[in-house]
This record gives sequence, structure tokens and C-alpha cells, in this order.
Amino acid sequence: MSKVIGIIGAMDIEVEKFIENLSDIEKVTISGIDFYSGTAFGKKIVVVKSGVGKVFASIATEILCIKFGVSCVINTGVAGALYGLKIGDIVVSNSVCQHDMDTSAIGDPIGLISGINKVYLNADENLVSLALSSANKNGLNAVSGIIASGDKFVADKNEKEYIYKNFSALCVEMEGASVGQTAYLNSVPFIVIRAISDDGDDSHAVEFVKFAKESAIKANAIICDMLQNI
Ligand code: ADE
Repeated sequence: MSKVIGIIGAMDIEVEKFIENLSDIEKVTISGIDFYSGTAFGKKIVVVKSGVGKVFASIATEILCIKFGVSCVINTGVAGALYGLKIGDIVVSNSVCQHDMDTSAIGDPIGLISGINKVYLNADENLVSLALSSANKNGLNAVSGIIASGDKFVADKNEKEYIYKNFSALCVEMEGASVGQTAYLNSVPFIVIRAISDDGDDSHAVEFVKFAKESAIKANAIICDMLQNI
């Protein structure tokens, strides 16, 4: 059986490019989430718009792994900058963490995922280097680093600082780490590729509305290029 690649984004703007380009498209709805399978950019892919937040992303990733048997999962979309990045820059996950996971009151490190005993989950190294070179080919400014996820849109300077100080993350979003945890539990390689849409701070939340679509397209461009080389 040939490889099937899973592509997951939370919102329409993050995945519509892939769905538009699918040939031999088949749609199935599972747990209220639509999955589109077919061929695009020379590869068999399954594209899913999960919905926003960690629970939706986790359900969608589990279905990609269990029902569609994907060989890897790519999470695409936008993110708020925490440190040193500007709108349109790309962050490729070398690892992911959950900034809203906190059992420190009972002695654990902040962010520890009980059961697997890790704060950070590593993305697949080959996918990371492929994403960085695809970004480079597309003339995009890309860095690899830690991506932090949580069930909150961050639009506050203090929260931003909390996440940066505790996790050294470069950007914040709402799904990548749950995609990563679910893929990890299924022994499926994963990567998160995010384009910066806003500054994650109080004065700049409005940027998200303005820049989300054009940033999402930048992250998509990287994946289209990667698909030819996976
Ligand atoms: N996705 C894009 N910008 C974000 C932010 N500031 N917080 C959480 N998720 C985001």
C-alpha cells in the first residue's frame, strides 16, 4: 500500500488550498469532522479541517492515524509570535508543548504530560529539515524551535511572557501539541508548520483578522513543496 499523508488545520483558511487541489476526492464525516482524501501534488493525502482547539485536533489526528493509516501527520496554520518573529515568518516545530498543562501544584514541572512523563514532544527530524529547505526555496524566513499550544487565543503581554519564560517557545497556537501528542501515542511521525499572523499581545490581536489568510497561504506553500519530496 502506498503512503498516505495526513494534513490537518483548524480553520478553512488553513486547509482549503489542499482540498481545492485534490483529485479523485472522497469525503467522509466522522465524529462531525470532515475528512477529504484523494491525490494532490503527486501524493495520496487526507486533509482535515479539525476545528479550533486541542480536543478537536486530537480527535482528528486519532482518526487520521487509526482509520486512514497515515504515514505522517502535518499540522499547518497560523500562530502568534512570542519572541523575535514578525508577521509572515515561519516556525517549524522541532518540538511541541502544552502551555496550559499544569500539575505543578502537586510537584510536577509545568507542562508535564502525566503518563508519558514529557513536557516536549519531538517532531520528525527529516520532516523538519525538509520543511526548512522548502521554506527557503519559497523565499520565506523560517526558523525551527518550540511551538506551544493551549486552549486560549493569546492576546496579552503577560501571558506571552509566561509562555516564553516557562517553555522557551517561539510561537503560540491552539492545536499543534495535541496533534503531536496523538501522533506520538500512535508512533506516527509529525510536524507542525505555522506562519505568524499576530504578535500575541493585547494591542495586536486585531492583526490576526487582517493577516491570518495570507500567513496561512505561506505555511501551505511549504507543504505543497514538501509533498513532492516526502
Ligand atoms: N493562532 C494565531 N494567533 C494565535 C494567538 N495569538 N494565540 C493562540 N493561537 C493563535
